[in-house]
Amino acid sequence: MLFDLLRPAIFALDPERAHRLAIGALKAMPPRAPARPGPLAVEVAGVAFPNPVGVAAGFDKDAEVPGTLLGLGFGFTEVGSITPLPQAGNPTPRLFRLPEDGAVINRMGFNNAGAEAALARLAARKGKPGVVGINIGANKDAADRIADYATMARLMTPHASYLAVNVSSPNTPGLRALQDEGALAALLDAVIAARAEAATEGALPPIFLKVAPDLTPADVDAIARIALDRTLGALIVSNTTISRGDLASRHAGETGGLSGAPLRALALRRLREFRQATGGEIALVGVGGIATAEHAWQRIRAGASLVQLYSAMVYEGPGLGARIVRGLGELMRRDGFATIAEAVGSE
Ligand code: FNR
Repeated sequence: MLFDLLRPAIFALDPERAHRLAIGALKAMPPRAPARPGPLAVEVAGVAFPNPVGVAAGFDKDAEVPGTLLGLGFGFTEVGSITPLPQAGNPTPRLFRLPEDGAVINRMGFNNAGAEAALARLAARKGKPGVVGINIGANKDAADRIADYATMARLMTPHASYLAVNVSSPNTPGLRALQDEGALAALLDAVIAARAEAATEGALPPIFLKVAPDLTPADVDAIARIALDRTLGALIVSNTTISRGDLASRHAGETGGLSGAPLRALALRRLREFRQATGGEIALVGVGGIATAEHAWQRIRAGASLVQLYSAMVYEGPGLGARIVRGLGELMRRDGFATIAEAVGSE
């Protein structure tokens, strides 16, 4: 595979530079049609996903290449996180590969070109097929962060297959406090109201809430209750972790969110807890350390209707999505399931 040949050259580059080059290469690729619904098709919160394997937020922060990622075989992609105003993010270096651990640490801090720039690109996509979720965040310096989420919901509602409310980035100080019961309820109510204001011809994108893996059982119960109460479309479990565990790489001590292989077991555990806490009443999106079809299948059997990945693409390239989709089809047949929906939570 081309990526395997290029990997040593890519890994010789600073990770952020390599990422910019990857986005540039994807931009230069001839457009291909998105995946067609096949045996792996699944419906979540009224949205028809051609397959359950998506690109996680943070890879395409500024919505530069959603069409290309869909053309590579991903069933959906989540652009963002996007904030109302452009934002530089934290000082560099702020992105680290941990090859010995199959992991990544980042403290990007919501670097993005802002809502206006993303809107121009998303508006140009209007009418094109494919599921594109829009992940929304708040500016670091916002006087009223909840108002930022409402602004983003209002702006993005006409363009989103779903809205992903990200209250779980560890790299904007205080952001994760929005997962606390009172703040979360107020935030979601503001987002729901803003979405209603902006809805055109009754098209209401469902709201997905993205949570951290670093939650206590009481947090999980409280979030599940609020999500059920507001009939959210899905919970995305999870963002990166601030926990560390045993890591071998020289960058293990860097501040930021850890993703990739060391997050896998933790994200799976939280997914199971959310499945239990919601009684299967809300769809779950499994993310964290998924690198193979087996990992994706395990997450689906544990309760995920959809899965997403990012860090594994750093090591395996963007062709990984299509390989996982193929592998999932084989695992589904092996285990005697006719549809993904049938397999969700069947462990
Ligand atoms: C992320 N992630 C992320 N999530 C989010 O909601 N908004 C964001 O802007 C970002 N940015 C971001 C940047 C980088 C460099 C990484 C590695 C990750 C988190 C990502 O979407 C995902 O939840 C985690 O990375 C766990 O999945 P993987 O990477 O283990 O497959």
